[in-house]
Amino acid sequence: MEDYPTLRDYQQAADFVRQQTRHQPRIGMVLGSGLGDLADEVKDADTVDYVVIPGWPQSRVAGHSGQLIIGHLQGKSVMVMRGRAHYYEGYSMARVTLPIRVMQLLGIHTIILTNAAGGLRQDMRPGQMMLISDVINLIGMAGANPLRGPNDERLGTRFPDMTEVFDAELRAIAHRVALDAQLPLTEGVYAGLAGPSFETPADLRFLRLIGADAVGMSTVAEAIVARHGGIRLLGISGISNTPQAEPGSQAETTHDEVLEAGKALVPRLLTLIRGILQALPTG
Ligand code: HPA
Repeated sequence: MEDYPTLRDYQQAADFVRQQTRHQPRIGMVLGSGLGDLADEVKDADTVDYVVIPGWPQSRVAGHSGQLIIGHLQGKSVMVMRGRAHYYEGYSMARVTLPIRVMQLLGIHTIILTNAAGGLRQDMRPGQMMLISDVINLIGMAGANPLRGPNDERLGTRFPDMTEVFDAELRAIAHRVALDAQLPLTEGVYAGLAGPSFETPADLRFLRLIGADAVGMSTVAEAIVARHGGIRLLGISGISNTPQAEPGSQAETTHDEVLEAGKALVPRLLTLIRGILQALPTG
């Protein structure tokens, strides 16, 4: 049976989080594999373990520690998700994206989604950052759209437009910040797959053909729910590996490799995110 949380479920979780913090966060952040240490930078932090939040999907994957960190970063009031649950862990897409609904109900207007991703373009190297210009919702096309099921109009419209999932103005800010800080920042399309197995060489050739620049196992469903809820989005992929489309290339992809590359990316990502937060208007 599919699992469709209701507005009441979202409210219950949001009320619980509200009671655990002195802050009123307006900017949300989701930290992907290996990127969790970024949360250490949050000042005046209130910490809430995912396990105590009603209905919150738990992640059991190494590198995803499972805490909400609410406090200040660069003078802005932020709520940071240190780790996220994934579809491949067995949750419905609606359950995976419950945290985004909680952010919506808490009054968060902007979310920065991050992830570790496999780079599909020739020019991509592990450790590089890619601003997400758009997503390919492969899992959604196959039926597992996070908005499948009853639609509550109080959260968003039945058929939301997805012409501009990632906010053009936020992307321009990110490019400006990267240029000023002399950080290489490319832009590209992120394809979301269910995982947990990595891609076959034929999968990779297919993904390149359909216009994907990076591939991963998260982010897309969160992005769709956030747009449904009217939240502005910025997305950043940390390229952790470059999976090979040629069989026998001896370049295996491992989760450890993804985590290692993530750690190396944290300082660069932090510089970028700090600059972006600084450029955002207060409130
Ligand atoms: N494939 C899918 N997901 C990933 C990868 C990859 O190569 N790297 C990090 N997440």
